[in-house]
Amino acid sequence: MQEQIKKINTLEELQALYTATFGKNGTMTARLKEMKNMDNDARAAINRENVELRELFKIRQAELENAAMMAGLQKQKLDVSLNKEPENAGTLHPITRSLVDIAGILESFGYEMWTGPEIEDDWHNFTALNTPEYHPARDMQDTFFLENGNVMRTQTSAIQIRSMEKKGAPIKMFGIGATYRKEMDATHGPMFHQIEGLYIDKNVTMADLIGDVKEFLKRFFNINDLELRIRPSYFPFTEPSIEIDMKWQGKKWLELMGAGMVHPNVLRNCNINPEEYQGFAFGFGWDRLAMLKYGLNDLRKMFDGDVRWLKNAGF
Ligand code: DAH
Repeated sequence: MQEQIKKINTLEELQALYTATFGKNGTMTARLKEMKNMDNDARAAINRENVELRELFKIRQAELENAAMMAGLQKQKLDVSLNKEPENAGTLHPITRSLVDIAGILESFGYEMWTGPEIEDDWHNFTALNTPEYHPARDMQDTFFLENGNVMRTQTSAIQIRSMEKKGAPIKMFGIGATYRKEMDATHGPMFHQIEGLYIDKNVTMADLIGDVKEFLKRFFNINDLELRIRPSYFPFTEPSIEIDMKWQGKKWLELMGAGMVHPNVLRNCNINPEEYQGFAFGFGWDRLAMLKYGLNDLRKMFDGDVRWLKNAGF
């Protein structure tokens, strides 16, 4: 009997044998009924067998149930593609995506990425940049002043000051971040992003500046014949100062960035000797570059956080 139980392979057969053993007319039931006429040893033997058989049935039943469950699981393989609603997978925001490109290019030129605080003190945002109080150039930027005299950073140029103060020369860095000014229309918002490049060393010239900017723009926009226009300009922190325009799709000129040779006063303010070191700086609207590259035309929409707009714009 014990062997027979172990060999049974279906729950139905096991159930049938159980009934034949312990059911109303079962073999064990019959023997238990006869026990009263037997001596103690014989009774004990039957009792033992009774307990043992019940235990064996239980064990075999558990084994078979387990096997049935495993077989079921094997059969019902999970098809994760079945009836799956399309997911809205996240993508990088145009600003982030363009930063990946911009930083990748500048880093390949040897520039190191820096950030700085968005709430700046007067020194880093203006004074050290050769823009002392009452300097008319402060009017070029509609500054948000805080009550304690600090400002919302109006330009990432502040980061170049911090980097030179910290690291001295030679230095090759770019600063990235949000900047703030009181303006609002389709192409200007109170918050926008700038990127600032700085390269200070012993023999850096304007030709290096134009070379780096040109190569950067070629790679960023993925174009080979790039037409640039260099115009003289004025910034307090550069001398000479220039503005760089780019011919867009063979048609109109776009103003892309301000640049120039870093003013000796700026170097002095950062404890760098202008007799020994010189270099260039350039600054541009990062959002604008992203908008040009991806064909977007409303700066404000970029920061509305409206996923439908971003999706529509291909993000
Ligand atoms: N800070 C200037 C602005 O916000 C842009 C700029 C111009 C940065 C010339 C520079 C530079 O580093 O050399 O308008």
